Amino acid sequence: MQTTQPAPQPPVSHHLLLCATPSKALCCPDPQVGAASWATLKRLVRELGLEDPGRTGGVVWRTKADCLRICGGGPILLIWPDGITYGGVSSERIERILRQHVIGGQPVSEWIVQRTAFSGQAPDPQPRLQELPVQPPPGQSLQL
Ligand code: FES
Repeated sequence: MQTTQPAPQPPVSHHLLLCATPSKALCCPDPQVGAASWATLKRLVRELGLEDPGRTGGVVWRTKADCLRICGGGPILLIWPDGITYGGVSSERIERILRQHVIGGQPVSEWIVQRTAFSGQAPDPQPRLQELPVQPPPGQSLQL
């Protein structure tokens, strides 16, 4: 029996999850704002070459999420493996987040609404981000 092997995938540097058009509309009650943010995120990820399989440091994945457990002040953007969540991620904010945080490695501190520790070991940890204070979600403790 012949099996088909999946094509090798390029390494991933970041995964961006955007809650912009949630089914319950808790964090982003205006669907037009959320839809515009998602469209801008998709366009800029492509235009900035972040999906290029040959990109140094790996590609950037993007996913539209239905809820990221913040449920207010949206659109909400969670960036892994950094565990940083941004609020109020309008179309106008996305380019700065991509250029400063994803490309430059410097989170936009004034828009961060939550920091979440990742219990897995990132394959290529970024020392700049390890220096950031990490806070557990409300009611939880860190297990590092
Ligand atoms: S509905 Fe968007 S974070 Fe929960």
